[in-house]
Amino acid sequence: MISLGIESSCDDTAVAIINDKNEILAHQIITQFDEHSKYGGVVPEIASRSHLNYVDKLIKNALIEAQITLNDIDVICAGSGPGLIGGLIVGSSIAKSIAYSLQKPFVAVNHLEAHALMPMMFNKDLKFPYMLLLVSGGHTQILKVYGVGQYKLLGTTIDDACGECFDKVAKMLGWDYMGGKEIEKSAQKGDETKYDFPRPMLHSHDLNFSFSGLKTALRTQIEKLNNIDETTKNDICASFQASIIDIINKKLTDALKMNNDVKYLVAGGGVSSNSQIRKTLENIGNKLNINVSFAPPKYCTDNGVMIAYAGLLNYQNGKTSPYTTTPKPRWNLEDL
Ligand code: KG4
Ligand code: ZN
Repeated sequence: MISLGIESSCDDTAVAIINDKNEILAHQIITQFDEHSKYGGVVPEIASRSHLNYVDKLIKNALIEAQITLNDIDVICAGSGPGLIGGLIVGSSIAKSIAYSLQKPFVAVNHLEAHALMPMMFNKDLKFPYMLLLVSGGHTQILKVYGVGQYKLLGTTIDDACGECFDKVAKMLGWDYMGGKEIEKSAQKGDETKYDFPRPMLHSHDLNFSFSGLKTALRTQIEKLNNIDETTKNDICASFQASIIDIINKKLTDALKMNNDVKYLVAGGGVSSNSQIRKTLENIGNKLNINVSFAPPKYCTDNGVMIAYAGLLNYQNGKTSPYTTTPKPRWNLEDL
């Protein structure tokens, strides 16, 4: 069985073709970096137009890469929310059109579910229920995953998302938009004990997060320092990342202790490509005797494979979407 997935919820246009043996037959992706970097963030209108420019070509290239034709595909999937509505309309419209013209099934994939299921594609031993840390540019959640389409939200951010916090701090330090990766690189060379940034809601006795106070503390500190040289920058990044890691460590440890029927821990979403965060989860797993798994870093950030995979699993579970389905800019996992 062959699945085609299209991702277009933010600034990545991606098309993937996979089969039911979890083999990636093709993956074509364009990140619209040049289009948005001069504006310091993703401009929705530019993103939609760029998706429209790229998606056609990426589908053709993916078919060439996989050495198949559209007729060989069994199910056509599109990331259909949450996300920027213009981009979602582009991806889902083209997916529905292909599906309709070939009279093949269409699956409207929830973007968060795609991040949530991605570790399964790469780890045969991972079993439901598992504890999921979902950390992306728009979401920070701890969920208990009972199965495809079955999610229980245990904790969420009450303000900014973790990735958003990384991005805003990166911007304060002069990096382009979506600078989480730059912070990670810089932090590797820094001293994490140099600055004592807050750990908001560390002892809140629930599994919720808050990052806006941490962001403000960073702004205040950066404004205090007139001239930020490379070493200072590295120390700020290392100290900032240490705060994030302490928070994640505490909340996930608590979540697993409160749910001792869960024996697997996974993370998904762009921030989970961060090597220190991955190490933190591995340490939690070692301490609590829990199996920890991830997708490879490049499949933690937005990509087409996760859409093709989540769509295929839904299809195998008997779930397809009508050709009249419209994408949803807001779409919670618990509403699946
Ligand atoms: O999942 P994703 O690609 O898009 C959304 O669904 O939001 O996540 C993007 C987020 C951005 O905030 C980006 O800065 C962050 O993931 N990110 C990272 C790293 N790589 C990407 N944050 C920390 N460390 C990284 N290595
Ligand atoms: Zn994402």
